[in-house]
Amino acid sequence: MGISKPFPVFSFLLILPLYFLFYTITPTSSAPMQDQFITCLHENTNVSFPLGETFFDPVKNVSMFSQVLESTSQNLRFLSKTMPKPEFIFKPLHESHVQASVICSKKLGIHLRFRSGGHDYEGLSYVSEMEKPFILMDLSKLREIDINIEDNSAWAQAGATVGELYYRIAEKSSVHGFPAGLCTSLGIGGHITGGAYGSMMRKYGLGGDNVLDAKMVDVNGKLLDRASMGEDTFWAIRGGGGASFGIILAWKIKLVQVPETVTVFTVTKTLEQDLGNKILSKWQAVAADKLVEELFIRVLFSVAANNGSKSATTSYNALFLGGKDALLNVMKKGFPELGLTSSDCVEMSWIESTVYISGFPSRTPTTVLLQGKSPNPKINFKAKSDFVKNPIPVSGLIGMFKKLLEADSALMIWNPYGGMMAEIPESQIPFPHRKGVIFKIQYVTAWPNSDKRPSRHINWIRDMYGYMMPYVSSNPRQAFVNYRDLDLGRNKKNGKMSFKQAQVWGAKYFKDNLNRLVMIKSKVDPENFFRHEQSIPLLLV
Ligand SMILES: Cc1cc2nc3c(=O)[nH]c(=O)nc-3n(C[C@H](O)[C@H](O)[C@H](O)COP(=O)(O)OP(=O)(O)OC[C@H]3O[C@@H](n4cnc5c(N)ncnc54)[C@H](O)[C@@H]3O)c2cc1C
Ligand SMILES: *[C@@H]1O[C@H](CO)[C@@H](O)[C@H](O)[C@H]1NC(C)=O
Ligand SMILES: *[C@@H]1O[C@H](CO)[C@@H](O)[C@H](O)[C@H]1NC(C)=O
Ligand SMILES: *[C@@H]1O[C@H](CO)[C@@H](O)[C@H](O)[C@H]1NC(C)=O
Repeated sequence: MGISKPFPVFSFLLILPLYFLFYTITPTSSAPMQDQFITCLHENTNVSFPLGETFFDPVKNVSMFSQVLESTSQNLRFLSKTMPKPEFIFKPLHESHVQASVICSKKLGIHLRFRSGGHDYEGLSYVSEMEKPFILMDLSKLREIDINIEDNSAWAQAGATVGELYYRIAEKSSVHGFPAGLCTSLGIGGHITGGAYGSMMRKYGLGGDNVLDAKMVDVNGKLLDRASMGEDTFWAIRGGGGASFGIILAWKIKLVQVPETVTVFTVTKTLEQDLGNKILSKWQAVAADKLVEELFIRVLFSVAANNGSKSATTSYNALFLGGKDALLNVMKKGFPELGLTSSDCVEMSWIESTVYISGFPSRTPTTVLLQGKSPNPKINFKAKSDFVKNPIPVSGLIGMFKKLLEADSALMIWNPYGGMMAEIPESQIPFPHRKGVIFKIQYVTAWPNSDKRPSRHINWIRDMYGYMMPYVSSNPRQAFVNYRDLDLGRNKKNGKMSFKQAQVWGAKYFKDNLNRLVMIKSKVDPENFFRHEQSIPLLLV
C-alpha cells in the first residue's frame, strides 16, 4: 500500500535554507513555492525562461493569473470561486522545461497538473480536488506543427489544437486529412490520450488508431520516443486516458486520404415530423453503422422552448466523403425516411467541413481554426456517455423524450459506429468500444453562472442515465474516457485506490484492457507521480 508523495519532508528540509537565500536576493517575489520551483528549474535546464511570459501567480497579478487559468478551460464549473486554485501556473517554452518541471515537482513534493487544450470534462487538467497544494503546467506555448506530405505524416506538439492541425494539413494538401475530434479547439495533447473520435471514424478509426510515434517526458524527466519507451507504454498512451503515464510533448500522426470534395448536411425534425420515431428507428437500425463508411450521420437532440411550450428536435448532422450525387444515391437506397434533398446538401472542401461540423456558422472562414476558439460560449456543464448495442425500442424512446423535455437545457448526441471501428480489435489500443457498438450516446446538461439551482441539472442527468440503463451496454456499462465522468468513481487522496474499486470505473472505460494498463502503470510509474482523480491505479498488494 506504500504510495506517497516522493520525499516531501526530506525535500522541504533541503530547500528551506535555499529559499531564504533566494528570497533575500529577490525581495519582490512573494511566493516561496514558486521561488523554489524557479531555482530548481534553472538548475535543470539550459534554456532561459523570461519569468513574465512563463510564470503566473495570484499574488503578483491576480487578474493576469485568472486570465491564464481561464484561457482554455472549457467548463465554468471548475473555475468557480470555491474550486481549488493552483499555487501558480508555468508555461514551458521548451521541451527541457517540461523535463525539468517533472524533476522539480518531484524534488519539492509539489503535486503537478498539466493541460494541453483544457477540455477535460471534470476539469482535471487544471483543478485538483484530491490534493493540495498543486501547480499547473500549461503546454499552450508548445504548439508547433510539422507536416510531411511526402511520407503521409505530421508531428504536432501537445499544445496545438486539432483545428490548427487540420488547417496546417490543408495548407499543404487538399487531399489529406486526419480523423480526430469534431470540436476544433481540442488540445491534441490530451485529446489523443483518450482515443479521439471524429467525423471520419467510420472510415479511418480514431485519432489514436492513427498515431505513429510520440515524444513523452516520463516520471524521471527523461525524454522518450516510441523506440525508447517500448511498445507497452506506446500502447497505453494511445487511449489509456490523460496524465497517467507521462507528459506527451508531441504526437507523430499518420495522415489519411480525403477527397477534393466532401458533402455536409443538417436536417432537423420536430417530434411531430417524426411520428412513431420512424426516422430515428431507421437511423438506429441501418443508418448509424451499416451504410458506407464514407458516411457519418450523427443525431443531435435538443429541447427548444417555443412560444411557452417545450419541444424536442432531432438534427441529422452529417459528413460524406464524396460528392452530392453519390450521397443522394446512398441515402435514397439506405435511409429514404430522412427525405434528404439536393438542396439540403452542401459540397465543400474537407477543411471547410471541419469548420461546419464543429458548429461555426456556415461560411465562417477556415482561418478561424487558427484562433483556438470553440464555437460555443463557455458554460457550466456535466456530461455522461453510453454505448448502444441493440436499437432502442420505440417504447424506450418515448420515455427518453419525456425525460429530455423535463430538462431546461439538455442536449444529447448520438454518434454512429460500424465501419472501420468494428474492424479494429478491442485490444489494439486501450479504447475498447468496437465491434457490436451501433452508436454512442453523450448526455449533456449545461447552465450559466447566474443559475441559482445548478444541482437540479446534475440531478436531471443522473436520472436520465438511470432511465437509460436497460437500453445500453451492460457488464460493464461502457463509457468514453474522453468524456470523463467522476460519478463513475474516483481515486482517493494521493491517487490511492484499491484495484478492486478501480475495476468498477476502469472497466467501463477500458474493459479488459484495464488489466494491461494497470500492469504498465505499475511498471513505469511505481510511485504514482502521475495521479489524479481518475488516473490508472497501481497494482496494489
Ligand atoms: C466542447 C468539447 C468537444 C469535444 N469533442 C470531442 C470530440 O469530437 N471527440 C473526442 O474524442 N473528444 C471530444 N471531447 C473530449 C476531449 O477529447 C477530451 O476532453 C480531451 O481530454 C481534451 O484534451 P485537451 O488537451 O483539450 O484537454 P486537457 O483538459 O488539457 O487534458 C485532458 C486530460 O489529459 C491530460 N493531458 C493534457 N495534456 C496532456 C499531455 N500532453 N500528455 C498527457 N496527458 C495530458 C490532462 O492532465 C487531463 O487529465 C470534447 C470536449 C469538449 C469540452
Ligand atoms: C547545460 O549545458 C552544459 C554545457 O553544455 C552541460 O554540461 C549540462 O549538462 C547542461 N545541463 C542541462 C540540465 O541540460
Ligand atoms: C496585470 O495583468 C494585466 C493583464 O491581465 C495588466 O493589464 C496589468 O497591467 C497587470 N498589473 C500589474 C500590476 O502588473
Ligand atoms: C403563440 O401562442 C399564442 C397563444 O397560444 C398564439 O396566439 C400565437 O399565435 C402563437 N405564436 C406563434 C408564433 O406560434
